[in-house]
Amino acid sequence: MMKENLNRVKKESKVIGIFDSGCGGLTVLRAVQKKYPHDSYVYVGDLARLPYGTKSPETVKNYCLSLTRLLQNYPLKALVIACNTASTYGAEAVRHLCHPSVPVIEMITPAARAAVAATHNAHISVIATQGTVSNKAYSRAIHSIAPQLTVTETACQVLVALAEEGWVKDTIAQDTVKRYLDPIFDTSNAPDTLILGCTHFPLFEDVLRGYVGEGVTIINSGEAVAAQLSLPSEAQGDGLTQFLVTDTPALFLKKAYRFLGRDILPDCVSYVDIADYT
Ligand code: DGL
Repeated sequence: MMKENLNRVKKESKVIGIFDSGCGGLTVLRAVQKKYPHDSYVYVGDLARLPYGTKSPETVKNYCLSLTRLLQNYPLKALVIACNTASTYGAEAVRHLCHPSVPVIEMITPAARAAVAATHNAHISVIATQGTVSNKAYSRAIHSIAPQLTVTETACQVLVALAEEGWVKDTIAQDTVKRYLDPIFDTSNAPDTLILGCTHFPLFEDVLRGYVGEGVTIINSGEAVAAQLSLPSEAQGDGLTQFLVTDTPALFLKKAYRFLGRDILPDCVSYVDIADYT
């Protein structure tokens, strides 16, 4: 199995490794690929063990380590942890596991920086998974840059489920957004900046924009990663992407378009038994 996967990218000298719990990280791949279209990518979606957002810190960290070991089968140019929850609990351990020459990119710091730069009224709202919020990952990252800012973090687990289901534009999405955000935005001290601190939430961008109006800056954490990413050298290849998934590829192919905005050819997706890397 691994041999086939390795064969597919062997022509390329180095690849950008990128992992997520499933399809959500495709929103990050999409943003990074837009900036570096000639690089080759190996994307791992840990379908067998998703969601990460409701798992314990130790479990998420161990999942991150196994996905990193899997990606270490490839000559890595950089490693992107394309999941906010995984970035929260796994970034430090992943950095330890990687060779110092491989930059490890996580999701929290770039979005925090972008939000600090955007806010004028010193109040930032963060929507994320239960795991990311309970760690206060965004509050800590923002306060390390600007301690005076107010940060309101809200766990929005139902939005993760709606994105998986594809219910991202209809009334159920609008009602859910309103229910989560009214206590923060329907107040006299509403934030002027909203961080989408979960890979699934860019899918709600229209509904969220409709809810918050034009006066609020929406920070897409995947786009913030891409904007602040600076790779050592620009590749000149044809931008090959290999997808590895830890459960049936059909599950991945069914949802991928929604997150990536383009179709993936079935023969670019292979199953990997993650038990070999735990
Ligand atoms: N990728 C996760 C994140 O950005 C959301 C999905 C999950 O819980 O696995 O936090």
